[in-house]
Amino acid sequence: MSKVKLGILGAGKLGTTLGRLAIQNGYEVLIAGSKEKEKIMLTVEVLVPGAIVMTKEELVKESDVIILALPLGKVSSIPTVGLENKIIIDAMNYWWEVDGKQRIPHDPNLSSSEYVAKSLNSNRVVKAFNHMGYHDLEIESHSETIKAIALAGDNDLDKEIVSKLIEDVGFKPLDIGLLKEGIKLEPGSELFGANLVEKEFNEIFKNL
Ligand SMILES: NC(=O)c1ccc[n+]([C@@H]2O[C@H](COP(=O)([O-])OP(=O)(O)OC[C@H]3O[C@@H](n4cnc5c(N)ncnc54)[C@H](OP(=O)(O)O)[C@@H]3O)[C@@H](O)[C@H]2O)c1
Repeated sequence: MSKVKLGILGAGKLGTTLGRLAIQNGYEVLIAGSKEKEKIMLTVEVLVPGAIVMTKEELVKESDVIILALPLGKVSSIPTVGLENKIIIDAMNYWWEVDGKQRIPHDPNLSSSEYVAKSLNSNRVVKAFNHMGYHDLEIESHSETIKAIALAGDNDLDKEIVSKLIEDVGFKPLDIGLLKEGIKLEPGSELFGANLVEKEFNEIFKNL
């Protein structure tokens, strides 16, 4: 399977970490922030050397796979033109300090990734990279005991591509099922923050 062109929306802590790991492992990485390109040029030059800075609109058009690494509450600012056929990796979480006191989405039975899929009118959303902190991602990439990164989504082929990315950046992909299952990886779940090997992860998952 050849490597996809990876776009990252959000040049913050998670976006720059994932961008750096992807470049180190042979991916072409495009990255965009919330504003003009100039605002993130220096950050990207220092933290994600080799990544190409674009506007969000350009990035959506150019990427094969797009990682959402921005605040969940900003989902409506993601350009939807050109997004139709793209695989979207939702790495976002509802975080009240950033997103406000009322949970997004308001419906407690809806996973945040289902909400993202609805908001973006996409059936190609795969939840991944949301449960491990950015510093752990950095440290654990290709570690001796390979750590698990869970993914959830409704399209098996898309999940294969995302699994390959997870593997390439040095983790063990663990498919936990449909997109709605992603609720088990959200803040409040025992698996949120998980920095575990597959066996440890599955021990917890089976009791959720
Ligand atoms: N930090 C972690 O360890 C971690 C781990 C897993 C998942 N996550 C999730 O990943 C997301 C990002 O977290 P973070 O810690 O990286 O936050 P962060 O450091 O605050 O970075 C968020 C970035 O998103 C940018 N942004 C806002 N709206 C945007 C838009 N419409 N298009 C492109 N970029 C936009 C922000 O730019 P401006 O500053 O210009 O607004 C900022 O650079 C959150 O949903 C979080 O829950 C975080």
